[in-house]
Amino acid sequence: MGRIARTLFGLCLGWLASGVLGLLGRFQHSPAASGVQRRTFVRNAALGAVGSALAITGAGFGALLWPNKTGAFGSVLTVPPDQVPPVNGEAYRNVAGKFFLVHSDAGLLALYNKCPHLGCSVPWVGPPENANAFQCPCHGSMYNYVGERTGGPAPRPMDYMAVSIDEGGNVLVDTGNISTRSAYDPGQAVQYA
Ligand code: FES
Repeated sequence: MGRIARTLFGLCLGWLASGVLGLLGRFQHSPAASGVQRRTFVRNAALGAVGSALAITGAGFGALLWPNKTGAFGSVLTVPPDQVPPVNGEAYRNVAGKFFLVHSDAGLLALYNKCPHLGCSVPWVGPPENANAFQCPCHGSMYNYVGERTGGPAPRPMDYMAVSIDEGGNVLVDTGNISTRSAYDPGQAVQYA
């Protein structure tokens, strides 16, 4: 379901509106009584133009009104146990959720990949460069494994998302619950057995 479905929905709305307007035009001028007159032709042409404009507008509204896809940024996303990094292991990246899951000695942190400086996406630079740091490509802010700023113009550590663990060992990351912090504290991490 995506852009194509939304566009079709909008086009259907516009087509319906165009049809209704066309019928109204016919009722106002009966061809049986006066033939197809110039005025009628011009009016129907105008109605057609309006219908086309409504089709385009309808497509836009359809795109706006169509429910957003679920299971992505803003919702609670699940990281299965086999994807959870080992302690100090390679950061796990969730593209749709815009976070990295890291596993320090203190526990798990889901780091929001949006740079606190001006909002660029911050990648984790592991192998083969082996920087083992988050490095913002825009203005050079750098962050360590738990998101502490180690250089650059960023005003604070990387933001982090609420994390909980279910009974099956799945990590639930609430991408709609994002916290800022002025400094890293081990209490921000969630223990993971
Ligand atoms: S946006 Fe990341 S350093 Fe400026």
